[in-house]
Amino acid sequence: MKILFVASEGLPYSKTGGLGDVVQALPKALVEMGHQVAVLLPRYRGNKITSTLVSSVTVSLGDQIRFPSIAEGVSVAGVRYFFVDDPGYFEREHPYGDKSGDYPDNAERFTEFSRVAIEFAKRVLLPDVIHCHDWQTALVPVLLRTQHANDPAVRSLPVVLTIHNLAYQGIFPQSALRKAGLPANLFSFDALEFYGRINFLKGGLLFADYLSTVGRRYAKEIQTPEYGAGLEGVILQRADRLVGILNGADYSIWNPESDKLIAQNYSSQNLEGKKACKKDLLKTFRLPSDKPKDLERPLIGIVSRFADQKGFDLIAQIASEMMNENLSLVALGNGQPEYENLFKLLAQTYPASAGAKIGYDDALAHKIQAGADIFLMPSRYEPCGLNQMYSLRYGTVPVVRATGGLDDTIQNFDPQTQQGTGFKFEEYDGNALLECLRTTLKMYQSENTWQTIQRNGMAKDFSWKTSAASYVTLYEAAKRSRIPRVAGTSKN
Ligand code: ADP
Ligand code: GLC
Repeated sequence: MKILFVASEGLPYSKTGGLGDVVQALPKALVEMGHQVAVLLPRYRGNKITSTLVSSVTVSLGDQIRFPSIAEGVSVAGVRYFFVDDPGYFEREHPYGDKSGDYPDNAERFTEFSRVAIEFAKRVLLPDVIHCHDWQTALVPVLLRTQHANDPAVRSLPVVLTIHNLAYQGIFPQSALRKAGLPANLFSFDALEFYGRINFLKGGLLFADYLSTVGRRYAKEIQTPEYGAGLEGVILQRADRLVGILNGADYSIWNPESDKLIAQNYSSQNLEGKKACKKDLLKTFRLPSDKPKDLERPLIGIVSRFADQKGFDLIAQIASEMMNENLSLVALGNGQPEYENLFKLLAQTYPASAGAKIGYDDALAHKIQAGADIFLMPSRYEPCGLNQMYSLRYGTVPVVRATGGLDDTIQNFDPQTQQGTGFKFEEYDGNALLECLRTTLKMYQSENTWQTIQRNGMAKDFSWKTSAASYVTLYEAAKRSRIPRVAGTSKN
């Protein structure tokens, strides 16, 4: 099958979070199954191209006409990469916004990107299916089924839309419709209109042939007001076309046996190297690491976008009780200032046991996965979450809130049966987190028990193979759904 991925970020070219990992790993897994995959991305700063394929596509956006080009990048692992190149829109510091918030022209930027994606399918490479991701590309199905409904080149092209995070919807004032060159009739309840504004994701949810989200539990959660972010009604309306397919982990990148970014490699048979990684990590954060007791003390690691989603307000609730336990904490992340300040303050207040690095640092993320004993993800909600899957592979025991993909992937450890891979708490509450941490620390006291939990986790296989096969089934269903039914073929 020929599959076209259309996404606002994807490694090895761009990444701000898990979407970037998925848009790298899933195409790779599909190619390994024998499919042909092309990935279309915006060309951000530093993305190198090998050739320009279409020098100018005319895109009319309200009062302005823009002329983005379509370029090709270097293929990686058999996956072909293409770019929508419009420096005025995409050659910026960050894909979506800067310190003052989201870029004010995001509606125009991603409308242009979606329009060029359709032109790409028409002029460069006609796929069997288009796979879109999140609100930034949600207009692709909308435009295909409205303005391009009679376009013979693409009218029967199936589209799958994956929701990586329902909370980010691309909501803009009604005036953005005109600025983005979108027809006024899309401002209706059964299209983009959403409480007097426009909502790109809502349009995608209504017009895509099939929808998927990145975990089984999250697929159910988003049908409820608690997790539906105002779109639960739309999701319910399309529930027969929604599936949950868990993300995988790319073990060619996240594997303690071969990871070049960590102090020493190790495996589940021989965990010795993990001690060297812990010492290295403590040193990196300038925490004491010379005495045996420094290495014995359990070390909690955090790598995250600092957003409300991730549940760090729970840590704020219990910070002093937590830091009074015999433990150390290292956190890497950036985002909302209140959480950056929380971790900076912890590092200042507890210089011998807490360290914080504010920023984005891939090498340090690997060091934390390898060097920490416990990986903490107390998320308020989590569509899938990749970090907990990585930490399982690194023998770093996850402590998570039982929500979304965290609940799908982590089994609570049961000392009776010795089964389980981590520790979960249910209620979104600081004390529930504290209690769960205390249980975890108790288990850490017994080296044997701890190693059992570590090995249980390291033995889990969350590779992309199964999930990629589920996506192929979904693409096939989407293709079937576009075959026009022939009228008058039934007997009566
Ligand atoms: P989300 O996509 O919601 O941010 P995921 O757990 O799915 O959460 O994916 C996060 C990805 O981004 C992981 O690969 C993680 O290692 C990486 N990441 C997040 N924050 C940072 C950071 N500050 N530095 C380096 N990597 C980060
Ligand atoms: C989103 C979600 C995260 C998921 C990732 C990749 O950013 O927050 O849970 O793992 O997308 O699908």
